[in-house]
Amino acid sequence: MHNQHINSIAIIGAGTMGNGIAHVCALSGFPVRLMDRSIEQLKIARQMIEKNLKRMAQKQRITPDQVHSTLARIQSYTDIKQAIVDVDIIVEVVPEQISVKKAVWNEIEQEIDPKRLKQTIFATNTSSISISALAQELIFPENMIGMHFFNPVPVMSLVEIILGEKTSEKTFKTVERLTSNLGKTPIRVHDFPGFVSNRILMPMINEAIYALYEGVAEKEAIDQVMTLGMAHPMGPLRLADFIGLDVCLNIMKVLHKGFQDDKYSPCPLLIEMVDEGHLGNKTGHGFYTYTV
Ligand code: CAA
Repeated sequence: MHNQHINSIAIIGAGTMGNGIAHVCALSGFPVRLMDRSIEQLKIARQMIEKNLKRMAQKQRITPDQVHSTLARIQSYTDIKQAIVDVDIIVEVVPEQISVKKAVWNEIEQEIDPKRLKQTIFATNTSSISISALAQELIFPENMIGMHFFNPVPVMSLVEIILGEKTSEKTFKTVERLTSNLGKTPIRVHDFPGFVSNRILMPMINEAIYALYEGVAEKEAIDQVMTLGMAHPMGPLRLADFIGLDVCLNIMKVLHKGFQDDKYSPCPLLIEMVDEGHLGNKTGHGFYTYTV
């Protein structure tokens, strides 16, 4: 099965994941067209990419020249039509709501040069949304695939590649090769709720929250059990704060609904914290406190 050559990449959405993906694509030599409707968000993304590249240069992982050449490969756009001109793959990284993602893909289908529609790969970065559901209304559902990156993208080596019901083998092979060219390891999985990563990670985090809720131990103790006893780089409660408690709750709801099994019921403490707006690092309050 042949794969297709990727020359340029559009990334739709310049939040934490979007800027991380732009960083690795550009550092690997690909011209990147980064799009967000907010100019402010694009500015923040560029600053983050520059900061993270400089951090890598300071640690002598890359040269100062690579910092400049990487930044020069990233063009910013606020218009979707301009951002997707002549690209081979579009990586969509907008918020985790199926209605938002569907609206973006509809717009892309309307705005893309019709001659390129059949050959362009549509990749969605998602932690929990079904690829088959997202591809349902597309003209070429065989071109859609999930590319689940992990935060911080420049550091984490996994990309979970999710095949929807209609994803073609050619699309998979192309994305598999692209992922390897980005210096990441592609792992092929099928379209089940939570895929593999979050089917395993989120129940563990939820269980850690239950342990806190039921008074089994203090938060620091729960985290230390997992960092010292299981060599996890972060304890599950600190990791929940890092991911975002709203994101964790949303994924637990996807698992609960998808499998219709109460073993995936979100812990009441998680629900309460999200209701109170304590979402972790991004709001300054979660299981721990942070400076925002
Ligand atoms: N860009 C570039 N480099 C970065 C970086 C970034 N954004 N963040 C950290 N680094 C580098 C540092 O420079 C450092 O490099 P060296 O090894 O060369 O020194 C290295 O990463 C480690 O960073 P620090 O020393 O600052 O801090 P640390 O050792 O505490 O590690 C961490 C920080 C990498 C975040 C580590 O704690 C970790 O791996 N945590 C777990 C993260 C995780 O599980 N992520 C997945 C979350 S789930 C998800 O994303 C998807 C989902 O669907 C929910």
